Amino acid sequence: MRAVAIDGPAGAGKSTVAKLVARRLGWLYLDTGAMYRAAGLKALRLGIAPGDRERIPAMIADTDVEIRFADGAQRVLLDGEDVTGLIRTPDVSVAASDVSAVPAVRLRMVELQRRIAAVHDVVMDGRDIGTYVLPDASCKVFLSASLEERTRRRVLDLEERGAVDVDQDAVRRDIEYRDYNDAHRALAPLAQAEDAFLVDTTGMTVDQVVEAVLRRAGA
Ligand code: DC
Repeated sequence: MRAVAIDGPAGAGKSTVAKLVARRLGWLYLDTGAMYRAAGLKALRLGIAPGDRERIPAMIADTDVEIRFADGAQRVLLDGEDVTGLIRTPDVSVAASDVSAVPAVRLRMVELQRRIAAVHDVVMDGRDIGTYVLPDASCKVFLSASLEERTRRRVLDLEERGAVDVDQDAVRRDIEYRDYNDAHRALAPLAQAEDAFLVDTTGMTVDQVVEAVLRRAGA
């Protein structure tokens, strides 16, 4: 099957762009961050520190994360419960970053991601898609943007989801924390693949980024 891999740090616009590119290509869009978010949510609910390397492997062995697609939209099921609407909070973002550094979690999620990519043409976004999950993807893109721009977008995103009085400094700190954490873990850290095309989206419109990715994908 064919794949477009879109990686980059938090708030670089990956999901917005990946969704539109998938629509234009008629391929499936897979948001891999949602899987780590579901695992992070479970750890928070159980009161287990998401970075706990003793307890998280046992938790994940006893966890069922499932992805379903309904009318082109992705739903995430955690132990059978649809948690799609619960995983976008700042707490879950940080928990997802911490839990994703535990190798047992990554191995489970990567297996699921590869299984989906084996039977669908996909546009997949994440941190390690081009480097680790789908190293043979025909098109790899690394999206970046300045920290200020990424913070601004994340604040807007939270506000669009109904959050009020969003603390911009807290959002910036969360992004910085996650960037560092995601880029410094031992297994499959956030990195630009050698053969990935770098797009700095600061100052670009969504349409411009989508067109740049589609050109790169040969579409
Ligand atoms: O893309 P996102 O913000 O929804 O991802 C949440 C966290 O999940 C991110 O901080 C790191 C982790 N993640 C990962 O380690 N690998 C991926 N392919 C996707 C997300």
